[in-house]
Amino acid sequence: MILLRILFPGSCYFNAACLPQQVHLTPRKQIISRNHPKITAMATNGDHSRVEKYAVVTGANKGIGLETVRQIASKGVTVVLTARDEKRGTDATCMLHNMGLTNVVFHQLDVLDPVSIESLAKFIKDRFGRLDILVNNAGASGVVVDEERLRAMNIDPETWLSGKATNMVQQVIKTSYETAVECLNTNFYGVQRLTEALLPLLQLSPSGARIVNVSSLRGELWRIRGDDLRNELGDLETLNEEKLDSILKRFLKDLKENTLEAGGWSLMLPAYSISKATLNAYTRFLAKRHPNMLINCVHPGYVNTDINWHTGPMPVEEGARGPVKCALLPDGGPTGCYFDQTEVASF
Ligand SMILES: NC(=O)c1ccc[n+]([C@@H]2O[C@H](COP(=O)([O-])OP(=O)(O)OC[C@H]3O[C@@H](n4cnc5c(N)ncnc54)[C@H](OP(=O)(O)O)[C@@H]3O)[C@@H](O)[C@H]2O)c1
Repeated sequence: MILLRILFPGSCYFNAACLPQQVHLTPRKQIISRNHPKITAMATNGDHSRVEKYAVVTGANKGIGLETVRQIASKGVTVVLTARDEKRGTDATCMLHNMGLTNVVFHQLDVLDPVSIESLAKFIKDRFGRLDILVNNAGASGVVVDEERLRAMNIDPETWLSGKATNMVQQVIKTSYETAVECLNTNFYGVQRLTEALLPLLQLSPSGARIVNVSSLRGELWRIRGDDLRNELGDLETLNEEKLDSILKRFLKDLKENTLEAGGWSLMLPAYSISKATLNAYTRFLAKRHPNMLINCVHPGYVNTDINWHTGPMPVEEGARGPVKCALLPDGGPTGCYFDQTEVASF
């Protein structure tokens, strides 16, 4: 396979190597679906290759994840809708079945639970034999919020996004050590653990798998206050798992000792911000390591969902467009990139 890489501004790559191949794999067993026991979805990739495709979306019982499943399944991809809560997940799956999307199946997944991750990997291996698309969408805010007081402040989206709200919200949005740990475990370590578990199946995708890490503008490098920290996270040559792990341990130590400001960490949603900054860094070196795949991270927009206490103005239909675009990139598309919604942007 000839690999043509053209360096893209912002150090991401266009991978022109993975020529479409004709494959036709039939699921080995019937899919768990009360209403529609057999799923044989066909997906079109680009305009000429017709291959069955299998996708997993995490945290998909609501919000951007649910809408991402809907949009990807509407293109004919067989999607495993995952959720940590069985009832919430099956309810969401039933809703999509009722919309005619019979190519959606449910499997439980708590990204904090290694047993649950292993169970999902086994399910995909047994049913499909491979995986083509992984959307790491599940996320936690890392804070405890007094929603009533926050709503009363009536902060407009522009103020939120510019960072000007940082001081205003300190009294109503609190980061505890426990919520921070949960946030890092969900948004960074959970993604890492799930991706590693599914990589052997993703490697079997005939035209190169797509991995989408749903990130946030809170993780953009320019928002990091400390120069050293920003440089560390932006240095693609030296980034690796150990380095990211040591950065996150340093963050937790500073949080515990109440020295976040001196440490150069973001003061707006500190745990969430560093979890997404490290997720972006992870995306970059993962893409470098797997040049046959298209691996990107994406800020979906400021979307009206539970995670931001419905302060975001954008409907989920619009918010899912970026993740869906990255999930369905044509062969030779960008990899190792950060997307601001549907456009490649600077890390
Ligand atoms: N909304 C925005 O403006 C915005 C902006 C930037 C980035 N994002 C990112 O977009 C992604 C989706 O968030 P959203 O806005 O759609 O928020 P949301 O509606 O609150 O959805 C978050 C999802 O993550 C799931 N989740 C949390 N912890 C999990 C775990 N341990 N295992 C499995 N699933 C878990 C939640 O499940 P439960 O229902 O069981 O809690 C829920 O399904 C997140 O990564 C978020 O950081 C959102």
